[in-house]
Amino acid sequence: MRRPHIYIYATLFALAAALLAPHPLTAALAVAATALWGEWLLLWIYSMRWPLEPHREKARIGGYLAAYDPRRKVYHILWKAEPTRSEFGIAAAQTIHEMFASLALNPSEYIAVVQQEKDRYIRFSTKIPDESRISHVESVLRTYFVLQGDLWVSGKIKPRRWIYYAAAAPLLFGLFNPVFLLIAALLIYHAHNIRKWYREAELFFSFEAVSTKRDIGTSRQSLETFAGAEAAAIAKMEKWAVVFTPRPEAAVEKEFGKAYESPVEKRGVVVKLHKTSQLLERMLKHDERPIYMQVFGSQDLATQLEIRIDPLANVLFWVPKGAYMTKALSHDLARIPIFYGGKLMSSGRKLFVGYDRFSRPVEIDIDSMPTSHSVILGPSGMGKSWAAATLLKRLVESHEDLKIVVIDPHGDYVPLAKLVGARVFEVPKYIPPISQLKNNRYLHMLLMEFGLAQPGADGAGEAEAAVKAMAKVAGVELPHEAHVTGVGHIVWDLRPLKHDAAAQAFFVSLILLWYLTQWGARPHAEKVETAIVVDEAALLLHSAKITETGLVTNTVLTLIRQLSMGGRKYGFALWIIAQLARHVPEDIVENAGFVLQLGGTTRALKKSLEVLALDRYDYEYLRSATTPRETVGGAASAGSRPYAMGVLYLSPRDLKYHVKIPLEPLLKEAV
Ligand SMILES: Nc1ncnc2c1ncn2[C@@H]1O[C@H](COP(=O)(O)OP(=O)(O)OP(=O)(O)O)[C@@H](O)[C@H]1O
Ligand SMILES: [Mg+2]
Repeated sequence: MRRPHIYIYATLFALAAALLAPHPLTAALAVAATALWGEWLLLWIYSMRWPLEPHREKARIGGYLAAYDPRRKVYHILWKAEPTRSEFGIAAAQTIHEMFASLALNPSEYIAVVQQEKDRYIRFSTKIPDESRISHVESVLRTYFVLQGDLWVSGKIKPRRWIYYAAAAPLLFGLFNPVFLLIAALLIYHAHNIRKWYREAELFFSFEAVSTKRDIGTSRQSLETFAGAEAAAIAKMEKWAVVFTPRPEAAVEKEFGKAYESPVEKRGVVVKLHKTSQLLERMLKHDERPIYMQVFGSQDLATQLEIRIDPLANVLFWVPKGAYMTKALSHDLARIPIFYGGKLMSSGRKLFVGYDRFSRPVEIDIDSMPTSHSVILGPSGMGKSWAAATLLKRLVESHEDLKIVVIDPHGDYVPLAKLVGARVFEVPKYIPPISQLKNNRYLHMLLMEFGLAQPGADGAGEAEAAVKAMAKVAGVELPHEAHVTGVGHIVWDLRPLKHDAAAQAFFVSLILLWYLTQWGARPHAEKVETAIVVDEAALLLHSAKITETGLVTNTVLTLIRQLSMGGRKYGFALWIIAQLARHVPEDIVENAGFVLQLGGTTRALKKSLEVLALDRYDYEYLRSATTPRETVGGAASAGSRPYAMGVLYLSPRDLKYHVKIPLEPLLKEAV
């Protein structure tokens, strides 16, 4: 059995033979071919212009909504799906195999993973409407994907009537050879069936290209060589899908049997024997299962999979049939980016971060973060501040309801303030209205940590005196309490304190403490209203202590833990920026909503490797990172825009992207 085209060509050939060499034999062949395969021929002709798919009806299987193909008696159950992990190429092989093994599909059950622009879907197809089986499949899938069910897809437009005229065309030849009258009648019958059983594909799933190879390499080595490259090429497609099903043991045995039983003298047999033994060895050595798979796409792809434009691709996608599919092993599914590029499923507000390695845009859903704090890490000069300022600019430009507050020790965000119209408060000339914090326990504790207060004596005036004393460092006699509510975006510029690390640490902590206590006292909010950014967060570690449980902590860190790890219900998002993973307490990095790790040297990444569980591929990507300056320099890239390179992690799942973040040149030029 081969792909349907061979039948189409055979039919065309038989028709031509009957026309050119009229003879009872050619006539009989032409009639037989038309009867058997005339439908494929017409489908093929029609689909060149308008892709067709089988007509489907809504059916209920217990609690599940199914798309039922009444002609083939196949139920399709669809979910919207986002992978809960981010694995790619050969690294994904083990997980995919494990998923395949736990699904334990029958030979008449099929799984399809579909990527359609930004959305991903999973389809389970079966002939048996058994709710408990579907729910089992669903529960297995749920360990790998977040699923949303009850999807329904089917085109509504019937094939156009001209399919009858096409079918009737052989009538013209009826003048020369009456057998064509019979052939036309058969084709008209097929056309009638096509109008009854097919619909024009709606924009939703419809594929133009399908893999044409029947066998892919049996050697594990070729899989290891090609998996990453093929997955990358497929990831770049606007849409793709893979359908897979187990290949019955009997079919495999038969193939082996045939090879072994043939007389060995022939060269072809030796090749076959060699291949089957390789296949067997690969299966045993790597615990792989024989499968059938078919890859669909939106364009040609010249890899081992040989994906080619084919008018029948869409029909084949909905009519799974082992016979049309590629023989492969379960690990070969790693050639398709099944687990790459998941995202959080929600319709919240999005922040565009950059492009992944396949130039697909990567977005953060700012309302779906499980915790309200995030961390940006990267050695000096890799573009943390620039990237953060770029993200903030995008954030406020696309979401008018969002305000930003930046605590800026180096004045890196002053250009941003100009661009987005933020108030710049020079510290310590201006400070937050701390007189609102009378008798605040945390404020008192902070003062104690900096040796600015006596234990027990938390009377009024204590804080004012302490601030005044600290402000002297920068030659400021009398700090003003700034009006910070209702003034829009704010940048706290701490440059006047740059020569005194302790004073800088004190004011950074004080400002953050002020915001955290303010937000902590508010009624709960579900939506992020303000993004608070602390650059150079190492300053927050001033006089931090290590508790018996190994937690690095002080007053501000305690507040961060209480407010941002306790939930995202306070309506703010805190972004913590630091050079090294060492500069932020480990638990804060581990719990972050997102972590953006920019590239750097082996030494700078040492701690990140451990805390962020970077794998070899992440590490290599980060090591290859260039500085923003390099990305703009050089004659070859004249006029190119600067970007920063990093690994982006999204919580609560292990979603990981290798991103390039385009940086906003205006944020540097304005300095
Ligand atoms: N006008 C400019 N044009 C191009 N590149 C620039 C310009 N100004 C600075 N850079 C480059 O941008 C990078 C600095 O970016 P940024 O200030 O965001 O670094 P950072 O990671 O925050 O470092 P630090 O930890 O020291 O604050 C450096 O590589 C620098 O060479
Ligand atoms: Mg910086």
